[in-house]
Amino acid sequence: MSSSCALCVTSLLSCSSTRRRGRSSSVSKGQDAEWWRSAVIYQVYPRSFADGNGDGTGDLAGVRQHLGYLRDLGVDAIWFTPWYVSPLADGGYDVADYRAIDPQFGTLAEAEALIAEARELGIRTIVDVVPNHVSAEHPWFRDALAAGPGSPERERFWFRPGRGEGGEELPTRWVSDFQGTTWTRTTDPDGTPGEWYLHLFAPSQPDLNWDHPDVRREHEEILRFWFDRGAAGIRIDSAALLVKDPALPEVPEHPGPGEHPHVDRDELHDVYRAWRAVADSYDEPRVLVGEVWLPDTDRFTRFLRPDEMHTAFNFDFMARPWDAKALRESITTTLDAHAPVGAPATWVLSNHDVTRPVTRYGRADSSFAFAAKRFGTPTDLDLGRRRARAAALLVAALPGALYVYQGDELGLPEVEDLPRELIQDPMHDRSGGIDPGRDGCRVPLPWTRGGSSFGFGPDGGAPPWLPQPAAWGGLSVEAQDADLASTLALYRRALAARRTEPALHDRRLRWLDAVGDVPVGDDVLAFARGGGPGTPGLVCVVNLGPEPVPLPADADVVLHSADPREPLARIATDVAVWLRP
Ligand code: GLC
Repeated sequence: MSSSCALCVTSLLSCSSTRRRGRSSSVSKGQDAEWWRSAVIYQVYPRSFADGNGDGTGDLAGVRQHLGYLRDLGVDAIWFTPWYVSPLADGGYDVADYRAIDPQFGTLAEAEALIAEARELGIRTIVDVVPNHVSAEHPWFRDALAAGPGSPERERFWFRPGRGEGGEELPTRWVSDFQGTTWTRTTDPDGTPGEWYLHLFAPSQPDLNWDHPDVRREHEEILRFWFDRGAAGIRIDSAALLVKDPALPEVPEHPGPGEHPHVDRDELHDVYRAWRAVADSYDEPRVLVGEVWLPDTDRFTRFLRPDEMHTAFNFDFMARPWDAKALRESITTTLDAHAPVGAPATWVLSNHDVTRPVTRYGRADSSFAFAAKRFGTPTDLDLGRRRARAAALLVAALPGALYVYQGDELGLPEVEDLPRELIQDPMHDRSGGIDPGRDGCRVPLPWTRGGSSFGFGPDGGAPPWLPQPAAWGGLSVEAQDADLASTLALYRRALAARRTEPALHDRRLRWLDAVGDVPVGDDVLAFARGGGPGTPGLVCVVNLGPEPVPLPADADVVLHSADPREPLARIATDVAVWLRP
């Protein structure tokens, strides 16, 4: 293994002398090894973060220009969605070369410099690894198509003859996560219809065969490639889908645990144990974060056993409506399920796949489900903004790691009026235009009040790849920077307090039915963190009910999500407060 690699040594170990605001950025060997248990991880969608070269697409140069912003925001790590060479048929989740940066985003040398510079500021880097499928432009898939049926090249994928006499029927009736079928028929060199290949997502994303040793070996090498370049960890895309039942049966009506032919197969755990061994072989062990969408919390936490992943995204919480009972239940279930495996929970309000919280929480149905996304859903953005601010303080007060998707710290809403012809997300097209797709949460960030792209790119550069709403100057970093009442200011204060409040470093959470002298009802979330002999502890109260909650006598308010310019007399509906009892 390669902890002796020159780049590793400079990027990971030599920055122990640098300091960042409010904390030491010392990351010397052995110290802070469990940083991922309580880290704040900021998700950068490189295409939409900042455009350094003015071509309308975000890039690594743009990220490097704004690293100071991320340091001041108070994040511990950045997770980059895929930046590799890709036709961008699925925003980069269709990788043609896992060891090179797409020229639209920059170069490998820039990625190495970025990782090192971020680390100098005390910010670690997590890269996205996409193991379930590759791009149809990946050399393996091109070779497989060229080599023809029965070739060893095709064994790295799932090529099958069709059913029926002429092979014209699909090998299975599995349904794609992007809707529609999961098989596409190839054409043989003589022009006749050939075998079919499997793709759980779009046809441009053929699934790999994880029973093949090349596939396993290749991914372990990809992990090492990025770990050797200073990546502190990986986010594992579609982590529960890799392994398929080689008999390719139909999906049973009610599959029991481990019985689904392509979701949550027991054999997956061998893959992650092998990856954990790679991650642990570094002097500063690297971290595995799984994208695991599973409704069964016990099956979910099996991925978090001590020799598998370190953490996985908590989508259960993310998908819940703005409802005290639903959120309390999710928090309790999450913490109870994680405790036996010793893994920290994660708290995620959104990401590049889901409707922005400001929009979601402003709707009559504030839960999230892919299948429910529709154009024209009535939304009260003021309500959504109040709730999203309260939600930010709620998640920042919970024990575990916290993910912040770029732009949520600015309170950006989902952009719902993108011209249809500009929507690139395959989810939109494959739904026959019914599902708006995910581009509404991927609109380029506004940095300045004015300018042709609100500072996303240099003035006079090419227009951003997706148009920004005209009002976004008012939501820009520049507009919010000095405004104490802004969502950006709230995030900065919350992340700073999360770092300095000893109570929030304690792993426990205690639900309260009264805060000081004030009893709280079922529609109020109230819990304490830390506290004990000599330490005051911290209480978080979120009012999701219709009535204001009185502040307890002598309460010391640390932070709240209402307007900070006005005295906080009571905890109004949809307001969260951090108190010292
Ligand atoms: C994950 C990604 C999503 C992508 C899909 C297929 O769910 O988050 O953006 O479309 O995997 O790779």
